[in-house]
Amino acid sequence: MGMDEKYPVGNPGMPLIPPRRGLSPGRFLLAVAYLVVVGFIYCFFQQNPNHPLHSYTAHHHAAQQPSAPETVIKMVEPSVKRGLVPLEAHIMSKCPDAKDCLRDLVLPVMQKTLDKVNFTLSFIGRPTEHDDGVACKHGAEECLGNIIELCAQSLYPDPKTYLGFVMCLTKDYRHIPQRGLIEDCALEHAIDFDKLNECATKDDGAYGMGMLRSSVRRTSAAGVTKSCTVRLNEEIYCVRDNGQWKECPHGSSVNDLVIAIEKLYHRRA
Ligand SMILES: *[C@@H]1O[C@H](CO)[C@@H](O)[C@H](O)[C@H]1NC(C)=O
Repeated sequence: MGMDEKYPVGNPGMPLIPPRRGLSPGRFLLAVAYLVVVGFIYCFFQQNPNHPLHSYTAHHHAAQQPSAPETVIKMVEPSVKRGLVPLEAHIMSKCPDAKDCLRDLVLPVMQKTLDKVNFTLSFIGRPTEHDDGVACKHGAEECLGNIIELCAQSLYPDPKTYLGFVMCLTKDYRHIPQRGLIEDCALEHAIDFDKLNECATKDDGAYGMGMLRSSVRRTSAAGVTKSCTVRLNEEIYCVRDNGQWKECPHGSSVNDLVIAIEKLYHRRA
């Protein structure tokens, strides 16, 4: 699926995950009120070091630096996994080629090579300069679907979880981003729907839109325009377009890609 058609525009001000079942304006207001209260309590504790709940952590530093701000930055060394082979799929959430590509190639390959690849799911779209948004080929609904899938990737980095979730949505891509579908798929893959919703709506949607903008920039920097494009080791490996595999000189079967990954993995190790 190419990028050539005119793109409807999605921007950070777009609606939240659209209600399908029973999200009345009243319940929405209640949720907003809850967030305001939680936010207030959080800020309150941040600004009141003498509050009982805060005093335990503040105590240790109180003798030397009574007014020093609490800065405990823990440097955690990432466990560097050497020799993982970069594998990437570039998709649009509401594209039928993405469904074939994930179902017939990416997921079965990942099942066989999980411990050898560093998998990234990226999105195709155009950043819009006037509103810091992104134009998605299938409209604002697709942009929101992409953001939800990026949120799942960032909240649950294990590909077994988020790729399963993305496949579940993609099987029913016409209904992305309906709330009922997202809830069902989240439940099926042990993803917390509230966390997902929080991520997608954080900062009035600007947070998710920022992730989507970086993702589509990454895609265009790689010279990728078609959903679905599979890249192996930073090079285009195969493209699924209009229901067919194209540009797959090394073969489009699961076995072909598994062999290509194993070769690269053993060369790196
Ligand atoms: C995996 O790939 C991403 C880019 O998609 C990169 O930022 C990250 O450092 C890589 N991680 C490992 C462990 O190689």
